[in-house]
Amino acid sequence: MRKKVIAGNWKMNKVLAEANQFVDEVASKVPETDQVEAIVCAPFPYLSSLVEQTNGTKLKVAAQNMHFDDNGAYTGEVSPVMLKDLGVSHVVIGHSERREFFAETDETVNKKTHAAFNHGLTPIVCVGETLEQREANETMTLVGTQVEKAIEGLSDEQIAETIVAYEPVWAIGTGKTASSEDANEVCAHIRQVIKKATSETIAEKVVIQYGGSVKPANVEELLSQSDIDGALVGGASLEAESFLQLVEAGTK
Ligand code: 13P
Repeated sequence: MRKKVIAGNWKMNKVLAEANQFVDEVASKVPETDQVEAIVCAPFPYLSSLVEQTNGTKLKVAAQNMHFDDNGAYTGEVSPVMLKDLGVSHVVIGHSERREFFAETDETVNKKTHAAFNHGLTPIVCVGETLEQREANETMTLVGTQVEKAIEGLSDEQIAETIVAYEPVWAIGTGKTASSEDANEVCAHIRQVIKKATSETIAEKVVIQYGGSVKPANVEELLSQSDIDGALVGGASLEAESFLQLVEAGTK
């Protein structure tokens, strides 16, 4: 059985003292079981401090983005080498907010996914459709293409290790969750796309998360679906208690 992965994406929130307090409250309470993995995706300036703070605990630390090159003249950017050097384990790639506001494309997502593996980081690759695309019945084609392009050129072993997060853009921060059936249908489609690119054995290993207004009240229903293996959570991951409830749901 696939493990469940619960990742809290703080986005551009919290000051350092709040980040440290959150980890103080959460890290020792993450269940010891391998059934569930808990990750906080924190702003760059806190990564070093949080990696140190979570050392020896089950809570993992992720970055929310990175550049695809190892180094160079890219003012303001952060490289995979730097993240690895800090001890970060995961990196979110291609979040819809980066696609919408920071010119992230399927091509840069692919480059960043390769870069993550080249430096021993596990990528959490985000895909998802806008409301217009859903209403035009483009969801499956669009999400399928996003996934195909993201994993292009990766080895089967790397694909098996990739975490895919299906986040319909219209469900992010809106309080509107996709129904668990609709979310599962897209996640199952993503698995089929991966199967076509690799094999059933590999596709069955890939962790596929759902994201978009996940909260303690709806997480169990979502996680009970056949192809939803976790959640990428924004708003409801900001409070320690709520995040722990989400992680707890992953053990059921
Ligand atoms: P919300 O959980 O706030 O809808 O955000 C989802 C998200 O974008 C996580 O990456």
